[in-house]
Amino acid sequence: MKVVRNLFKLLPVTLTMFAIATPAAAGDAAAGKAIYDGKGACGTCHGATGAGDGAAAAALNPKPASFVTAAFRLDTDGDGQAGTDADLANVMKNGGGKYGGNAAMPGRADFSDAEISDLVVYIRSLKQ
Ligand code: HEC
Repeated sequence: MKVVRNLFKLLPVTLTMFAIATPAAAGDAAAGKAIYDGKGACGTCHGATGAGDGAAAAALNPKPASFVTAAFRLDTDGDGQAGTDADLANVMKNGGGKYGGNAAMPGRADFSDAEISDLVVYIRSLKQ
């Protein structure tokens, strides 16, 4: 019994270690939405709900990504996986053209890392 009790005592420690070891996106979805709808004007191309159907989308090829299907295609860091948090952040910071994608996707080097993280979390929240 003592062993079991000791295990329970260790549980919070283990959980805390796991939380620290897992670099969960630290952004804030509400703040991300404010940027998306506001100064980012992301909806112009990606659509108000993120479905990739903004007013400017028809004229663009490749089309603006749909955050609803979340079928991301740009692998910005060559790790063999498209659409990781790092990929989304890189595209938002540096634009699509830098990674062989549509250069119409504007780079927002003027956004802080915190703002980019907020956008990543918000974009992820749009997936259905
Ligand atoms: C002028 C139109 C336009 C605006 C404004 C725009 N985007 Fe894009 N975006 C695109 C296009 C087009 C692509 C597709 C690039 C490709 O796949 O080649 C894209 C791709 C992306 C991707 C990468 C998807 C993938 O497949 O890997 C992300 C992330 C993204 N946009 C986020 C944003 C965010 C966040 C904003 C607002 C800060 C924004 N975009 C504003 C046109 C736009």
